[in-house]
Amino acid sequence: MAVEAEPTSLKLQRYSGFGSCGIPPLALFPSDWSFSGSGTDSGRPEENELQRSAAVVQGRSRHTVSDDLTPSLIIAVDGPAASGKGSIASRLAAHYGLPHMDTGLLYRAAGLKVLASGGDLGDADAATRAAESVTPGDLIDETALTSRGAGEAASRVASHPGVRAALLKLQQDFARQAGGAVLDGRDIGTVIAPDAPVKLFVTARPETRAHRRWLQLTGRGEAIAFDDMLADIIRRDERDAGRGAAPMVMADDAVLLDTTEMDIEAAFDAARRVVEAARVRHGF
Ligand code: CDP
Repeated sequence: MAVEAEPTSLKLQRYSGFGSCGIPPLALFPSDWSFSGSGTDSGRPEENELQRSAAVVQGRSRHTVSDDLTPSLIIAVDGPAASGKGSIASRLAAHYGLPHMDTGLLYRAAGLKVLASGGDLGDADAATRAAESVTPGDLIDETALTSRGAGEAASRVASHPGVRAALLKLQQDFARQAGGAVLDGRDIGTVIAPDAPVKLFVTARPETRAHRRWLQLTGRGEAIAFDDMLADIIRRDERDAGRGAAPMVMADDAVLLDTTEMDIEAAFDAARRVVEAARVRHGF
């Protein structure tokens, strides 16, 4: 696959996983998103609308769901909070001209919807209804979506199987689009795209991740003590790895990338080399 154009439209930016290291933003929502091919219409208008718009957006101007069996460059990037997976995914997407989906935003939006309606994050039915009703409009408020509270709420609702089921298809359709895609999350390499030819599991020491996230949040005015941030990160790791539904686990065929001692350039370069090796292996 040729390296394609630089990102064309960035409608939602997100903090980077590497604090102040100067990474391009993650982005969502192309204006020109379209799906074609069988099996993409869920029968739920709002989901179809979400599929069309909740996608991302870097690079190519047309996206279609692939019906053929030609292998496509699906890059699955999983890992715990603030490991740098989002920044790496964003950089890989820009480099290869692939669309990118930050799947965590879907769970964050679902969690915020439960909170906004005064619901209980532990209520599986309420959380599932919230996930089913996520629309592109719920994915716009960057500050709310990337807040500390939204991360915690996301992790709570993400443990409900109904929530995961509600968000499954649009992620899988996104992954299956012609030419490939980059998705980052917790279960991309295990559940969403188990056949992805490239799988990365990005991690770093909890203290390092807490420091990165602490810099990001305090840098934009959220008041939080470092020790509380570290406790958040550890609690979220345990919940995400310990849940029954699609737990955060490294796929058997994923490559582990520990970014503890890396800045974003080094991490991106290591990830790019993993992709290049896979391209040689799979003949892309
Ligand atoms: O940016 P950070 O890594 O802190 O979180 P995120 O990727 O936005 O995900 C927020 C939460 O959503 C995670 O703690 C997970 O509980 C959940 N999540 C998930 O379960 N599966 C995904 N594919 C993505 C996120």
